[in-house]
Amino acid sequence: MGLFLKFINQTRKPKGFLGKMMVNRMNGGGHVKLANWGMMHLKSYAPNDILEIGCGGGRNVRELLRRYPASTVTAIDYSEVSVEQTTKLNADAIKEGRCTVEKGDVSNLTLPEDKYDLATAFETIYFWPGLDKCFEQVVKVLKPGGIFMVVNESDGMDEEGLKFEKIIDGMKCYTAEDIKTAMKNVGFSKVKSVHHKSKPWITVLAKK
Ligand SMILES: C[S@@+](CC[C@H](N)C(=O)[O-])C[C@H]1O[C@@H](n2cnc3c(N)ncnc32)[C@H](O)[C@@H]1O
Repeated sequence: MGLFLKFINQTRKPKGFLGKMMVNRMNGGGHVKLANWGMMHLKSYAPNDILEIGCGGGRNVRELLRRYPASTVTAIDYSEVSVEQTTKLNADAIKEGRCTVEKGDVSNLTLPEDKYDLATAFETIYFWPGLDKCFEQVVKVLKPGGIFMVVNESDGMDEEGLKFEKIIDGMKCYTAEDIKTAMKNVGFSKVKSVHHKSKPWITVLAKK
């Protein structure tokens, strides 16, 4: 496998030196604009307990803590590199007791049930082992009335996303309809999606 392929495959589960480079890259550029666009759709929602799933380099954890100063954020990722980088970036909030970072796999969450007001997933569901199976885990840990938000750079039909799907092991791009169907399958209500006006970005929101 060439260096570019090795590097780009770090998006799925960052590991070692290349994985560190990848999570640093995730914390900047396009991912930031995408995540901010996604968070905009939460409007006046004011969550107390937030779960950030597949936290990568932890930039979105920091942003959620900044946007919701009265909240706490639990961040999980199954990559040790992601856990390490998120922990470093959010060291102050961890000291203040507002943030916890744990190694965990979304397909088998061991977090408290019915706890979170908001669960977020930015650029990560492409790699989850089956939407229904993983969304069931998200429902389990959300409070009744809690919100699940998925934000993806690919709408499942764009050339760029489908190109990456071919070269990144285990990656699957989904349409907003695919995501909404899986959300409804596991019992979410009030499922809705927003498509960016000029980019293939999607935000999908659902209520428990
Ligand atoms: C492309 S990165 C996105 C990181 C971050 N959310 C962002 O937007 O910058 C995908 C992240 O999801 C994590 N991930 C993938 N599958 C996961 C799973 N089953 N459980 C927990 N984390 C997972 C990866 O380790 C990686 O850190």
